[in-house]
Amino acid sequence: MIKSIVAGNWKMNKTPKDGKLFISEVLTNIDETINVDIIFCPPFTGLYNLDISPPFYIGAQNCYFKDSGAYTGEISLSMLLECNVEYVIIGHSERRQIFNEKNDSINKKVLKVIESGIKPILCIGETIDEMNTGKAYDVIKEQIISGLNSIKSLNNIIIAYEPVWAIGTGLNASVEQINDVHGFIRKILSQYFDNDESKNTPILYGGSVNPTNANELISIDGVNGFLIGGASLDVINFSKVIKIVGDQ
Ligand code: PGA
Repeated sequence: MIKSIVAGNWKMNKTPKDGKLFISEVLTNIDETINVDIIFCPPFTGLYNLDISPPFYIGAQNCYFKDSGAYTGEISLSMLLECNVEYVIIGHSERRQIFNEKNDSINKKVLKVIESGIKPILCIGETIDEMNTGKAYDVIKEQIISGLNSIKSLNNIIIAYEPVWAIGTGLNASVEQINDVHGFIRKILSQYFDNDESKNTPILYGGSVNPTNANELISIDGVNGFLIGGASLDVINFSKVIKIVGDQ
């Protein structure tokens, strides 16, 4: 049985002060016995000095694969570890599209995150053009295989399927589409990795998840939780989605 995960990707939103207040408000709304792992992913400046404990965790939105040195604007795993970061989002579509990240650097980051004892949330998903030209499955397969290249074990790896056209648009993939893609992802994982590990790898869905659609989306076989952008910025909406997932 895979424990459900709800991760909130704040993107470039919330100052450290706003973030602390937000987290304290969510914590008062959610009973800590809930059977869901809840991950807050603030911008780097908001990671420091957050006093939270399971089932609440801290995640970062990115990292660099070098230990230290002349890499202006980048952040290392040791810096994240000192902030008690336990998850890092890697290869989000905004990193891929706006910052031109490619599968090979994404793979280096995944390897470095694993080496550091942190869990990567590897984001994959097709663009609208890739979907319309029938390339979605090829793209997803390539993102998995390249992103997880040289990884020995799937333990501690989380996959987030986020169709790019569904992110921040209010559009969702259909239940059938999500069901098919999540099944496909698990099949690919089982072909390249240990069968038990591939069965136990959490596969999250992301793309315009909100309190209205969360119930239907979490009921889909193979959806083990959500990676949420917009709705993770609002205390009421984020708390509602967490509770919906917890009630499953
Ligand atoms: P969204 O973002 O929930 O606003 O669509 C999801 C994401 O980017 O992870």
